[in-house]
Amino acid sequence: MKFLNLITISIAILFINLAFASSVEKRCFKKKNKGFTRFSGDEVYSYEKEHIKTLASYSSECTVLLKKNGDFPLTKEDTRKVYLYGNAVRKTLKGGTGSGDVNLREFVNIETAFTNAGFEVLTKDFIDAYDEVYEKANKEFQEELNNNGGGILNMGAIMSEPEYDLPYVKEGDLAIYVLGRVSGEGTDRKPIKGDLFLTDTERKMINDLAKGFKKFMLVLNTGGPIDLSDLDDVKNILILSQLGVNTSNTLVDVITGAKYPSGKLATTWTKYEDYQTIGDFAEKDDTNYKEGIYVGYRYFDTVNTDVMYPFGFGLGYTDFEYEIKSSKLNGETFEVKTNVKNVGKYKGKEVMEVYLSKPNTTLDEPYQILVGFAKTDELKPNKKQTLTIKFKLSDFASYDTKTATYILDKGDYVVRVGNSSRNTKPCGVIKVESRIDVRKVENKLGDPGFEDYVPKINSKKEDLSNVKTFTLNAKKVKKETVDYDYSYPIAKEVKALTLEEKAKLVIGGYVEDFIESLIGAAVTTVAGAAAETNTLDGKLKPIIMADGPAGVRIAKSYFLDSDGKAHNLEGNLPESMMSLLPPEMLQLVDASMPKPSVNDTIYHQYASAIPIGTALAQSWNKEFAEACGDIVGSEMVMFGVNLWLAPALNIHRSILCGRNFEYYSEDPFISGIMASAITNGVQEHKNAFVTLKHFAANNQETNRYLNSSNVSERAMREIYLKAFEMAIKEADPKAIMTSFNLLNGVHTSESKELTNDILRHEFGFDGLVMTDWVIAMEGEYKYPNPSASNVIKATGDLFMPGSQADYENVLEAIKNKTLTMEELEMAVTKIYKLSKQIEKK
Ligand code: BGC
Repeated sequence: MKFLNLITISIAILFINLAFASSVEKRCFKKKNKGFTRFSGDEVYSYEKEHIKTLASYSSECTVLLKKNGDFPLTKEDTRKVYLYGNAVRKTLKGGTGSGDVNLREFVNIETAFTNAGFEVLTKDFIDAYDEVYEKANKEFQEELNNNGGGILNMGAIMSEPEYDLPYVKEGDLAIYVLGRVSGEGTDRKPIKGDLFLTDTERKMINDLAKGFKKFMLVLNTGGPIDLSDLDDVKNILILSQLGVNTSNTLVDVITGAKYPSGKLATTWTKYEDYQTIGDFAEKDDTNYKEGIYVGYRYFDTVNTDVMYPFGFGLGYTDFEYEIKSSKLNGETFEVKTNVKNVGKYKGKEVMEVYLSKPNTTLDEPYQILVGFAKTDELKPNKKQTLTIKFKLSDFASYDTKTATYILDKGDYVVRVGNSSRNTKPCGVIKVESRIDVRKVENKLGDPGFEDYVPKINSKKEDLSNVKTFTLNAKKVKKETVDYDYSYPIAKEVKALTLEEKAKLVIGGYVEDFIESLIGAAVTTVAGAAAETNTLDGKLKPIIMADGPAGVRIAKSYFLDSDGKAHNLEGNLPESMMSLLPPEMLQLVDASMPKPSVNDTIYHQYASAIPIGTALAQSWNKEFAEACGDIVGSEMVMFGVNLWLAPALNIHRSILCGRNFEYYSEDPFISGIMASAITNGVQEHKNAFVTLKHFAANNQETNRYLNSSNVSERAMREIYLKAFEMAIKEADPKAIMTSFNLLNGVHTSESKELTNDILRHEFGFDGLVMTDWVIAMEGEYKYPNPSASNVIKATGDLFMPGSQADYENVLEAIKNKTLTMEELEMAVTKIYKLSKQIEKK
């Protein structure tokens, strides 16, 4: 492993990444090439239009109406002159920053979307003045970062929203305030004004507009919660979230009533002081997850805190009523049918959510956990629909660490159904007469060094006498004991490779230059992809990987050199990261990059930006997640990408995690459902596969490369591994990416217990395991960097992004016998097989 000075990395990244197009656009054409398509010219292709249309038909389902007073949607009589205020009117956010940022052909902001829809925007002068305030503050912010050293440790640094004093109109007919917050990989959010909290300017303006305008809506174009306390005068609040390409048009549609919100929160939104502080967050070396399984609503509902906007909550323009029609227990499958009726004036969709309260017999249990949900079709006023929701009790067995067993303990299991975690009715009680050992495993994940927090259980007396009771027949539950022996058949073609060839295959996109592989400049088959595997001088087809999860992250424009290698014209690093680098570096770049000549064709890869993970989960619509997967899969095939580095399914453990927007929820069940649905959508396409990430307990960005998440075995299994387990069992993903963080002092990528025992044996995963993009850190750190040979020894398959030093580390380990040839060949076989599989058209 090469230890690199971080500043050098940044400079080199820039050298390699930036080049400016100097060539003129050529005629439009579309050319099939080695199975994928090259597009050039300015024409908007039919696939782009189709994908935008499909996304548009669902995207308002991700928006969550938190408050309403009936003033929206606008009627035909309402004015079309609008006062648009707020930092995201012109600087609208389609998603977060970092590797999840997708390069679009073009993005329409909210100001333009309203204008295009026939509105007169009355605040252009204000927005111009705001732009000046912003540019000045941003310049100062970047100077400060550069003065403090610059470089990769600034990745994801976001300027907090500045205060300003600009005149604004305080009275009128219609005003909308669009408040934006962005975050991204590398940095966590902060509980300060301008990030988690409103600035004084924002608070004052929002309150004035709410009081002075006849109709006022506060719109939140944020990737995660902000503290919305003390906004009592605001009667209409909409979480628009960040919806990719259709973000702005969706808002216009929701305001005008062409579409309606039908999303529900997948993470609790409440005052900052309400969130639990039992466990650590953003510690440098060790982050102790002392809260154990009490994450999100599992905590709030158990300690019975009032929250502002609970998990699963969301209003519509219309209102719904629901009643329980029937419930039954069939074997160990519980089924509830509810009648849902639209009792309001507008059309809409409603979500029914099923929660399970387990008995506190041997183990402490949260008040309830989500175990099922379903969304209605569009219902017109007075229309009804019956929704059926089923779940299998043993899928939600608790983990008893003492006996290393997933158990259904003796006692009463209360099933509840409703339209938010705080608005449910009991619909059945399942009696378990004696403890059932569902799955016997071994404790594998080490000691976090503390006992998990157990809240004082506030047992509320509940009258369940009218609720139907069922007794579970223990014989109906399938029992299992896991066996951990692992051997993977080694391909004879792999045995025939030289040691050097084998080592090259497990070192990501092995190239001599670490920097090139780090930022993906070594990728020459698909411009802007994150990496490609070694071809052993053309013997094998490279496996091409591109980032997500908000779409396929590849270059927008590229050209081919005389060897047919593709060169990215915009640079592989996200714009957000480039803007953090000093201007003098930018000038060095131009000269150092391959540039197209005037005769070269400029090709385009316009990918579709889908909603961020959190927004997708807010739709509570699996069909939408699958449709997004289908869009991604078809674009992967078109552009020649094999592995999508997504979906990302870490848990919203703290609302401050800088990458939460990429992740779905504070709840593992909805995360697992969404990840499975999107995986199915992608993998329906031939040779397009997903990579679930980041496995596991990657819940903060502070010191992201060398921080240890210290978590109990139970919390790991019930919260942090659960969504991965579900997606593996239900959707058979082809690849998984381990996380940067350590788990109880061991790098997740180097943990044989995690990769082999749990992932491959307990969960039955038989695909490829790669590391996240390791950067060897130097300096004062408690924990060491991971090493390639340790990763392979732990049954990982690919060390990413890989360097000459990592390759040498593998050769050395074979020589020293710390790594066996068989261990290496098992990894090589998996890469070899995938490469052969994608070769077949
Ligand atoms: C991120 C991953 C991403 C990879 C490749 C890393 O920094 O953590 O999520 O897939 O880069 O771009």
